[in-house]
Amino acid sequence: MHNNFHCTNFTTHIFRQMMKTPGRTKVADLLSLGQEGAEVTVKGWVRTKRGNKNVAFVAINDGSTISNIQLVFDLQKFSEQQLRDISTGACLRACGTLVASQGSGQRVEIQATDVEVYGTADSATYPLQKKGHTLEFLREIAHLRPRTNTFGAVLRLRHAMAYAIHKYFNDKGFFYLHTPIITASDAEGAGAMFRVTTLDAKNPPLGENGEVCFADDFFGRETSLTVSGQLEGELGAMALGEVYTFGPTFRAENSNTPRHLAEFWMIEPEMAFYEIEDNMNLAEDFIKGLVQYALDHCMDDLTFLNDMYDRELIARLQGVCSTEFVRLSYGEGVKILEQSGQKFEFPVRWGVDLQSEHERYLVETHFKRPVILTDYPKDIKAFYMKQNDDGKTVRAMDVLFPKIGEIIGGSQREESLEKLGARIDELKMDVRTLWWYLDTRRFGTAPHSGFGLGFERLMMFVTGMGNIRDVIPFPRTPKNVEF
Ligand code: 4AD
Ligand code: MG
Repeated sequence: MHNNFHCTNFTTHIFRQMMKTPGRTKVADLLSLGQEGAEVTVKGWVRTKRGNKNVAFVAINDGSTISNIQLVFDLQKFSEQQLRDISTGACLRACGTLVASQGSGQRVEIQATDVEVYGTADSATYPLQKKGHTLEFLREIAHLRPRTNTFGAVLRLRHAMAYAIHKYFNDKGFFYLHTPIITASDAEGAGAMFRVTTLDAKNPPLGENGEVCFADDFFGRETSLTVSGQLEGELGAMALGEVYTFGPTFRAENSNTPRHLAEFWMIEPEMAFYEIEDNMNLAEDFIKGLVQYALDHCMDDLTFLNDMYDRELIARLQGVCSTEFVRLSYGEGVKILEQSGQKFEFPVRWGVDLQSEHERYLVETHFKRPVILTDYPKDIKAFYMKQNDDGKTVRAMDVLFPKIGEIIGGSQREESLEKLGARIDELKMDVRTLWWYLDTRRFGTAPHSGFGLGFERLMMFVTGMGNIRDVIPFPRTPKNVEF
């Protein structure tokens, strides 16, 4: 009975692998589960080839893990002709016997019995022939950089974080709401928008006043790519209670910094019946949960990044999970900055928008842990934020992180139709594009809150990468859209 159970379990396991990866076993599975003596097939890309006159060692990576598996070719069994095309970057299929590894560094290796090269890579022109390229150079070959250890690690971590985000919210009973990419409203004035049009750029239809006539455009009006899914998220929260969006957002600011992209992904939870404290509690728990997920599931890739780029990475991640975030008001934060004696590039006083140098001073130098700043001046925040009784500040919250600065921006929302309407008038916003949003306040309004986490800012923190261009497969920044 007992034996039978074991036997079934074993076959199920093999069956699962066969189903998952037709005709091959993934390197990750070979290294962790592979049984010595098994006949196996591996398919992947050559990382290195070395050897002597008796034997050739070829390291294969298939993307399933940061580790390679070593193929050993006995040169008495393989002709030079057969091995000629095996060079760094080539893709191949190899069969052989899994044996205990002679060398250090891996448990098992494959004694090759058969090989087929799917695609060669000319060593004179293959850009990743040598190791140790700079991240700047790799950005110029973004179409090939996923084949490096660094970007393999980053992209696997990116996948793990996306999965962890859906899991976190699903486990909490939130619903994933798909908000539109093309929009006719200016959401929040968060930044310049990219226009979406099918009009002829060389010869657009002009109205009597000489201006472009968007009535002839695809949607019959001016449209853009969204800067945020929040306003539609609020519509969802007023029906489903707790929702989140997770999608691409677009900002046409000309800011060429290591922390800004023109196309980035944002996660925006929106919750009915949450006050600002509930919102802060969720943001802190959420981000700690995600970092903990990476520590629990991605240690191979984190260890690689820790060793290669940032010796404090893992300690920093563990630190965030085990410390309580500081919570203080913008006003208190500004006082600390004013009294710091620090020379900032941008002078600081009550009323100014904080720069990343100010945020990082508070987090890295003063408190030495993440900070949630609240109650910002209303004039530097969006129209929808709940107004405080002082008439000067709003119930905003920004979560500030070491090395990153602002990682989350959010607020309690103004639920009073009257106050919200007054603010819209004050800012001279076009109420005609927002009538549907105001209906949430007109019909069954409720206290509610939400926030936006920049996915690539999170990825910078989790991977330790210093430039946001290195945590997204194909970055879009001013004058950069090649791949
Ligand atoms: O602070 P932001 O502009 O807030 C909003 O868009 C709100 N609608 C969110 C909400 O309350 N639902 O942006 C939110 C986050 C920032 O904290 C930052 O992490 C990221 O999005 N972000 C960017 N990331 C990369 N490149 C850019 N240009 C970014 N702009 C904002
Ligand atoms: Mg912000």
